Amino acid sequence: MPNDPNARVHVPVLLGEVLEAFRGSGTAEELEGWIVDGTVGSGGHARAVLEHFPRVKLFGADQDPEVLAYARRSLSDFGSRVVLCQARVSQLYPRLVAEGVAPVVGFLLDLGVNSLHFDHPERGFSLQADGPLDMRMDPTRARTAADIVNHWDEEDLADLFFYEGDERNSRAIARAVVAARARAPFARTLPLADLIAECAGGRGRIHPATRCFQALRRAVNEEGEELRHGLRVAERALADGGRAVVITFHSLEDGFVRKVLQERAREGCWRLANKKPCGPGAAERRANPRARSALLRCAVRQRLPAAPRGEAFADDPAEGCA
Ligand SMILES: C[S@@+](CC[C@H](N)C(=O)[O-])C[C@H]1O[C@@H](n2cnc3c(N)ncnc32)[C@H](O)[C@@H]1O
Repeated sequence: MPNDPNARVHVPVLLGEVLEAFRGSGTAEELEGWIVDGTVGSGGHARAVLEHFPRVKLFGADQDPEVLAYARRSLSDFGSRVVLCQARVSQLYPRLVAEGVAPVVGFLLDLGVNSLHFDHPERGFSLQADGPLDMRMDPTRARTAADIVNHWDEEDLADLFFYEGDERNSRAIARAVVAARARAPFARTLPLADLIAECAGGRGRIHPATRCFQALRRAVNEEGEELRHGLRVAERALADGGRAVVITFHSLEDGFVRKVLQERAREGCWRLANKKPCGPGAAERRANPRARSALLRCAVRQRLPAAPRGEAFADDPAEGCA
């Protein structure tokens, strides 16, 4: 993947809005310290941050080693201003401490999938080209999409497709999946996509299996849990006055971010920089279809935690930064 000449470039969403959110009411020259990009991906936001804020250093993490290798190459011209690390967002806090990076002045989360993932059918994300039913961004995760499709019971599958994918035909699809897997377990993406398409029917421009595939991807990568952890890591890692910028692609996720930030704002931990989330303008929506559902929220950290909070971070490996 890192050297693939055919790979599509991942276009960073809401780029101007991210820079504006980190800048706040100051100037780009005034911002100094570390910004964490917890989902560095291909490094599009990271590059813009480093170019825009000359006194900022960037700590970038991604759970996907192949994507991270791409970022390592694409950000190499920034030398020691960049430290990259393979980690899940939920594992980040002890690494930031171990590297002497926290407390930080900014924390970016741009969750979800990278265009690079779709270019490689063997990763199992693509609906267009056949591949193993995998969908793990972090290859050390035990559970693949095939495990879910072949082992979850019908009701859980239906709930997954409905709640995580907004698929209104979720019950019929789950029933069909369970009947089909009794004949032969699913191992590849296209047979599953074809079956789902038959049940879901056509729905406009997107492939009819898109919503179920999104739901499976979210479950495999525990995206909801990662977001929950990510907000806690941001809270712990940011200095007083530091800014968290969170981009989501799903109303469920945005609702969750809003709820958590509002709750913690009432407790004095955050000041919400924008009451309503920012979305893309017309030009960005036209140019980048992936941006259409993107929403950005920004919150300013109000005070440092007095002491380590009672709740432990479940998986806290401290090694592995380079
Ligand atoms: C939307 S892309 C980020 C794109 C990036 N902002 C850019 O401009 O290139 C999301 C990236 O986050 C990574 N990712 C998703 N969930 C993650 C998590 N919980 N922990 C670490 N990385 C994650 C994915 O592997 C993917 O590369």
